[in-house]
Amino acid sequence: MNYLIGIDVGTSSMKTLLVDETGNVVGNVTESYPFETPKPLWSEQDPSLWWEATCVLIKRVLQETQIDASNVVGLGLTGQMHGLVLLDKDDQVLRPCILWNDQRTGKQCADITSKVGADRVLELTGNPVLPGFTAPKIAWVQENEPELFSKAVRFLLPKDYVRFLLSGEHFTDVSDASGTSLLNIGERDWSEEMCDVLGLSTSFLPTVTESPVASSKISATAAAATGLHEGTPIAAGGGDQAAQAVGSGIVKEGIVSATLGTSGVVFAHSDEYRVEPNGLLHAFCHAVPGKWHLMGVMLSAAGSFDWYKSTLGDVESVEADKTSKNVFDLLTLQAKTAPPGCEGLLFLPYLSGERTPHPDPDARGTFFGMTLRHEKAHMTRSVLEGITFGMNDSLQLMRDLGLEISEVRASGGGAKSEFWLQMQADIYGSRVVTTNVTEGAAFGAAVLAGVACGVYSNLEVAADKIVKNTGETNPGLNQAIYADYYPEYRALYPALKERFGSIGRVVEKHL
Ligand code: XUL
Repeated sequence: MNYLIGIDVGTSSMKTLLVDETGNVVGNVTESYPFETPKPLWSEQDPSLWWEATCVLIKRVLQETQIDASNVVGLGLTGQMHGLVLLDKDDQVLRPCILWNDQRTGKQCADITSKVGADRVLELTGNPVLPGFTAPKIAWVQENEPELFSKAVRFLLPKDYVRFLLSGEHFTDVSDASGTSLLNIGERDWSEEMCDVLGLSTSFLPTVTESPVASSKISATAAAATGLHEGTPIAAGGGDQAAQAVGSGIVKEGIVSATLGTSGVVFAHSDEYRVEPNGLLHAFCHAVPGKWHLMGVMLSAAGSFDWYKSTLGDVESVEADKTSKNVFDLLTLQAKTAPPGCEGLLFLPYLSGERTPHPDPDARGTFFGMTLRHEKAHMTRSVLEGITFGMNDSLQLMRDLGLEISEVRASGGGAKSEFWLQMQADIYGSRVVTTNVTEGAAFGAAVLAGVACGVYSNLEVAADKIVKNTGETNPGLNQAIYADYYPEYRALYPALKERFGSIGRVVEKHL
């Protein structure tokens, strides 16, 4: 039997999977590591932590499964996107990696945008220049650490630094490179125009390839450090969202994933390069060769339900403890007793600001439309409805770009409850399915490795072989009711936008 390894260089941990060629996960190991916040808004990590974890985890997964390294036919890499690893002429790391969730680069984003022009940035890179992206981080180091920058000869993204240590090669893939603001997303190659603004020559950038391509091989040094065989092919891999989508079979147009984790991610495969005219959806190269993806990110999705449980779910939490039931199941049962639309009680889930479709750090959570008739069950249901309406906002933006959505693959907390699955089908107005794949990005990286080394002929074949539907929910009678309530939900943010900003200023004044 052939085996594949998938490695996910996460923000708080690394995950390594050993997968057989039929898609069975035979080994699953993780290793945590810290990241630092040396100043407010800053977020950094020491890249040597990733290498230590890589060596420990590959050795551990081989040891635990007793699979001989000669049967490992390929390795795929994925990980946190956007991070900046700067290397000197001897390939030594010059400073801690500036991570995707670092927010220090507001000025640099504005500078790059004004030099290139906002419309041109969108046309070239599919997205506005955002503080988390890599190019403004390079500009920040140029401005704030000029002496250190003068020693920098190259940058790598986090998973690509791990590849460098595994192979000695400087490569990236199109999906991860999409989050740098330096890639021409339509052409799937570095944008000279964007690089010129930062004065970067092509030698500063890793070579970019499609994702399921064996761009490098395990070196002799890495073979000694990990126990893998020298020459084992390494797939270019993908950014964490694109790799996760590959693992869940989001590899053809019409299939969209809706993941209700703490944050909510709506991810669509797109055969064409489509850009949301206001840059409200991320438009990136997909890990499927020659294809793109659109992505919406809600900051507090299932996180809003968790907040509701912690702040207003005391009674249910006590009952759950007493009866050994799940508190979310109890709250969902309660929500079921209120009618769809909650007689006009709406919840805006902007508890940590919002990203899609309202990129607004000041946006706030809101209960709107309370009357004397409203009870706790209405509030509970309106939280679930508000989260689902928020996910639908991303689907709606995708539909507005001409994307036909035939199937939504649900995962995360919202896929565990039949009630919430039905609500999703009713609000999305689409068939909602659940699948057997639950392993996330590392699994997708293993699938990319499988295509790169010829175990699967392409990603569609791999998805057909591996991803199986485990349930299907179709829109029901409530679809028509939600179609009436959704425009009311949509109208609330524009009505409150100014107030979110002003209440924030009042709060700050009195802190
Ligand atoms: C993608 C994004 C996150 C990070 C960290 O745009 O910001 O998925 O890659 O996981």
